[in-house]
Amino acid sequence: MGKSVIIINGPNLNLLGRREPEIYGHTTLADIETLTRAHGETLGLDVAFFQSNNEGDLVDAIQDAAERHGGIILNAAAYTHTSVALADAIKATGLPVVEVHLSNIFSREEFRHHSYISAVAAGVICGFGAKGYVLALEALAELID
Ligand code: DQA
Repeated sequence: MGKSVIIINGPNLNLLGRREPEIYGHTTLADIETLTRAHGETLGLDVAFFQSNNEGDLVDAIQDAAERHGGIILNAAAYTHTSVALADAIKATGLPVVEVHLSNIFSREEFRHHSYISAVAAGVICGFGAKGYVLALEALAELID
């Protein structure tokens, strides 16, 4: 079996393309899925994709990833700034996680400056829009090599 990673997206990211495009751009989540699956192929990575608006479903997806995948790309969206449960799930799996944000969370409101994910992530990519997911794939490919 080849190497496999999962891209997990949190709340409201299903609205990408329509949601505050001045901040998040016009690229949809379906576009990001197509882009990352294609780029994954060039890296020899099978890319699975998951989105949920519910914190518990995201915890389940992280736990399930331990059985099926070599690493996780996670945009936890607003849960980034609130969720001890997601951080604990990441620690429990022991899988490498690359944290992604489309926007530069550090140039926005103060409440977005703190991430519960960063302390348990291998690294963080933010501010590069949809391209951040491609950069994260590159990073994860090396981490699970
Ligand atoms: C986000 C940044 C978060 O602060 C916000 O709540 C999101 C999206 C981003 O990708 O820029 O929903 O994670």
